[in-house]
Amino acid sequence: MGDVRAFYGRWATIYDLLATLPGVRSWRRAAAAELSLSRGATVVEMGCGTGANLPHLRSAVGSEGRVLGLDVTRKMLNRARGRGDADLLWGDATRPPLSGSTEGLLGCFVVGMFADPRSVVDEWCTLVEPGHRVALLHFSRSQRAWARPIDACYRAFVWASSTDKRQTDVADSHERRVEDAYRRLADRTVDYRERRLAGGYLRLASGRVE
Ligand SMILES: C[S@@+](CC[C@H](N)C(=O)[O-])C[C@H]1O[C@@H](n2cnc3c(N)ncnc32)[C@H](O)[C@@H]1O
Repeated sequence: MGDVRAFYGRWATIYDLLATLPGVRSWRRAAAAELSLSRGATVVEMGCGTGANLPHLRSAVGSEGRVLGLDVTRKMLNRARGRGDADLLWGDATRPPLSGSTEGLLGCFVVGMFADPRSVVDEWCTLVEPGHRVALLHFSRSQRAWARPIDACYRAFVWASSTDKRQTDVADSHERRVEDAYRRLADRTVDYRERRLAGGYLRLASGRVE
């Protein structure tokens, strides 16, 4: 956890620039839409980083709703201030310090960082009121030959942000954890749906909690 905070604390400014590029907004809009939120609803983003999704979540719930962003890296949260008129909370998304339930939960580019993503997805599902959705958005490697340079950049990024750089297969185990999280969401929810964005590079999935 200390390494995650150190990495994102150091790179918060650059991360924010990349996270808010105009081309990236449509993915974030799609992730917010995936939650099928009603106006006035409460929605949480786990690992909200610099808050790039928060304005889209705010648009979905309107001014009468509540948007909550939780992250473990204070410098990322500092950048999120003012975005989407959200309440920001410093804390661990694997043991979220939340009371009460929510009507939507988003995890965006974060589940691959958890040691036990299945139990985190379980925990997230318990926070969401029955009938409402949990959504995940994450990078996914492409099988196409032309995609190799992008895959290599992604693997380098995963390695740099990883908590255990001694592992020989940092990127592979990251991918396995992402896969575990998506499978768990599919198992734990009904009406699970999944699609690819950004030329196949992104996996957007959601399921309804029963
Ligand atoms: C790749 S960034 C994604 C940020 C944001 N969701 C986005 O879409 O741009 C990952 C974020 O997850 C946060 N994070 C990692 N592990 C966490 C944990 N256990 N609890 C809360 N936040 C965590 C990091 O601090 C970082 O801000």
